[in-house]
Amino acid sequence: MESAPGFHSLTEERTASLAVEGSLPGWLDGSLVRNGPGAFSVGGDTVDHWFDGLAMCYRFGFDPGNRAGGAVDAADAVHYRNRFLETDAYRKARAGEFDGGFATGETTLRERLAGLLDEPYDNTNIVVERVGDRYLALTESPRAVVVDPVTLGVEGDAQYDGPAPAGQLACAHLKRDPATGTLFNVETAFGRFNEYHIHALDGAGERRHVGSVETDAPAYMHSFALTPRYVVLTEFPLRVDPLRFFLPGRQGPFIERFAWEPERGTRVVVVDRTTGEVVAEPETEPLFGFHHVNAFERDGGTELVFDLETIPDATAIGELSLETLRNGELDAIAGRLERFTVDLGGVTGVDRYRTGEATVGRKMLYDDGTALPTASPARWCRSHRYVYAMSMDQPATGWATGVLKHDTRTGDAVEFHDGGDYFGEPVFVPAPDGPEDAGVVLTVALDVDAERSRLLALDGERLEERARVELPHATPFDFHGRYFPELKTAA
Ligand SMILES: [Fe+2]
Repeated sequence: MESAPGFHSLTEERTASLAVEGSLPGWLDGSLVRNGPGAFSVGGDTVDHWFDGLAMCYRFGFDPGNRAGGAVDAADAVHYRNRFLETDAYRKARAGEFDGGFATGETTLRERLAGLLDEPYDNTNIVVERVGDRYLALTESPRAVVVDPVTLGVEGDAQYDGPAPAGQLACAHLKRDPATGTLFNVETAFGRFNEYHIHALDGAGERRHVGSVETDAPAYMHSFALTPRYVVLTEFPLRVDPLRFFLPGRQGPFIERFAWEPERGTRVVVVDRTTGEVVAEPETEPLFGFHHVNAFERDGGTELVFDLETIPDATAIGELSLETLRNGELDAIAGRLERFTVDLGGVTGVDRYRTGEATVGRKMLYDDGTALPTASPARWCRSHRYVYAMSMDQPATGWATGVLKHDTRTGDAVEFHDGGDYFGEPVFVPAPDGPEDAGVVLTVALDVDAERSRLLALDGERLEERARVELPHATPFDFHGRYFPELKTAA
């Protein structure tokens, strides 16, 4: 392994049936699909930024066949596969052109914009989502990659070319309303007018334009919030001056075009999910975050609540270079959980909202260091009590050595540790019934001493280990996983 475990390149692709040590619940019979940067060096070329590593997907298929009646069986198996996404970016890298898309390389903004329009970058290394009956690997470009979730082979491109307005950048995270099955996405369009376009994707994956929000300088937004009635954009003061996109000359990597402008504050834009109307846009202090955990409404929709992981120092994002990370400087990743409450003015009925009356309140939930926070998918768009996250030191001097369960009602926090092992994003899989935290937390741990990774299943209530599956190698730190209950194909 290279000197910084977790930020190493994994060249090996494996398919293996792996033994389960411990007990998995009988109902866990779908698949976990994870995605993340798998290689930072190809041939002689190396990328500088963590986000620029080539997309590698991991599939963990839980096979109930060996679990008679839901009981534990020594022969229980998890079908594992890891594979690079064979995208254009991957082929180019293999052919000697590995230049990243986020922060590596000297590219003029004009070239970059042209590139975004004509041939958006397809190193889709952030997450795999189900859209309609397809599984899409996503990044912050509007070009998604269609993946076979069993073989992890690339089946083609998915870039929208219909009548709804499209953008040159996309939020990496779609949001799903489990009550309706509708997904929402947000794209940013640069031009004479800069706009955030909000779309709804129905059960078949068809796109409907919900509405657009104008902005004088688009913000870097990795995700947004969704409630039954509203889409909420958190417009951080990490902004780009769109005019600079058209200036000639070499101007450095893409992310460096974003500037931290705290004097702008943060605009919280509340958009009606049905009409596309902006119903409120209160402002709060300058802040930044990558991940909205969950959002919901209270008091008949006159108040909305969203939990966001904020990053104390937004200026560090451009410095998520591999060199920095390998040196253990992880402040741009370590965040804290905050709850934002938007009072829409106490007036029921969208047409009667008056933008000027809305206010936004801010409350610290947990400030002791988190990363990649998640809530039960069964609670999306509804009030949640528990948040699971990687546990980081703050300031961060190393990767996450724990998994955190935070109770937003009582403020209690429970942590799971396993020696000095490092952990990835915890994915909560709810049990078919029971309280909110009945289920398992799936995470991948990296055992640095053994130079091996393992899949861990923790009990959702007590956060204790109930099963582990040793992987045949050490996997680099990845970004996000999704559990797909419908993916029951074994082998
Ligand atoms: Fe993310």
